Amino acid sequence: MDLSLQDFLSLPEAERVPYIKDHAILYAQQFDRESLDYHCRLADTCRKMHKTGEGADFLSSLLRHWTALNFFVQPSSRTFLSFNSAQSMLGMRRASVRDINISSMSKGETLTDSIRTFISYVDLVVMRHGDSDAGAVAYWIATKARKIVINGEERPIPIVSGGSGTKQHPTQSLLDIYTLEKSFEQIGGIDGKTIMLVGDLKRGRTVRSLSYLMKNYNGVELVFAAPEQYQMQDDILHFLDTHHVPWRMVDSLSAAVADVDAIYMTRIQDEWDDLAPGTHEAASDEFCFKLEHLRNMKPTACLLHPLPKRDEIEEAVDYADDDRVVYWRQERNGMWMRVAIIAKLFGVGEAILERA
Ligand code: ASP
Ligand code: CP
Repeated sequence: MDLSLQDFLSLPEAERVPYIKDHAILYAQQFDRESLDYHCRLADTCRKMHKTGEGADFLSSLLRHWTALNFFVQPSSRTFLSFNSAQSMLGMRRASVRDINISSMSKGETLTDSIRTFISYVDLVVMRHGDSDAGAVAYWIATKARKIVINGEERPIPIVSGGSGTKQHPTQSLLDIYTLEKSFEQIGGIDGKTIMLVGDLKRGRTVRSLSYLMKNYNGVELVFAAPEQYQMQDDILHFLDTHHVPWRMVDSLSAAVADVDAIYMTRIQDEWDDLAPGTHEAASDEFCFKLEHLRNMKPTACLLHPLPKRDEIEEAVDYADDDRVVYWRQERNGMWMRVAIIAKLFGVGEAILERA
């Protein structure tokens, strides 16, 4: 990296991508169709392989000499736990920092110094941070600090975003792609499908990352269903226009529920608002998914949610015993996708595919 940190951070995300190569996962724009298909194939292979004792032993033999740090200073249940399980399945040793107040950042240590400290002890940093640029800062530092050798190549310690600010959640979007591909297995995959994103599209980092990935699929159309103040932002709309991904906005979920192939619900991201502790903004009725919507969905359609969910999905939908409700499978898929992500980063993806 021949840029100063300031110069690197002054670049728009897309222009940072060539500097990141495949040494970190920070932005959905890093992925092309080939690498998305590869990650889905690898995730599926790991999932099947882990079902047998021999397969599980093989997986856990692969990365025994590496240590991962899960540095999560924003709340998380499934991203933290699924990365933790994925690392354990690959045999990695694991450490975690989850609370700035009990790390030396509370003594005023900068993020750059903290990251430099972490990577003197560990070989992978998975991080969730409220600052959208924290991953880029960590990657820049990683290029200056201790290197590791993977398959004969000297590389910076991999930095993986587990959610950054309101902007991106790239590994979530990979697991969403995996879930969509599996849901559409019998009907030609994601190509040609119409996907409706619902809820807080302005601050929802999952829907932003997923929208970026849509440029990799043929004939996909996006429908944005959100209250006006939470509609999809111009930077994403501009990206979609540039990549010829058609989109339209609707003012209620009902307006398109019967026409689309997938519905991706999201929660109002009110942690960014100044609300009294313990209070939450209710989802407006037009953007709540109810049993009647399930009845109106296409027979081949699927209902996703990155989770955690609140009132934007009627509780009865959970118990409808309908295969089109896939969000619980989606969170389990996240673990397999994260096994694939780490395996690929540490150069053992091919060994897994060859053994299968
Ligand atoms: N868990 C996802 C995220 O961290 C979605 C959400 O929290 O609503 O972005
Ligand atoms: N989907 C997701 O990122 O969940 P957590 O916030 O629980 O990690």
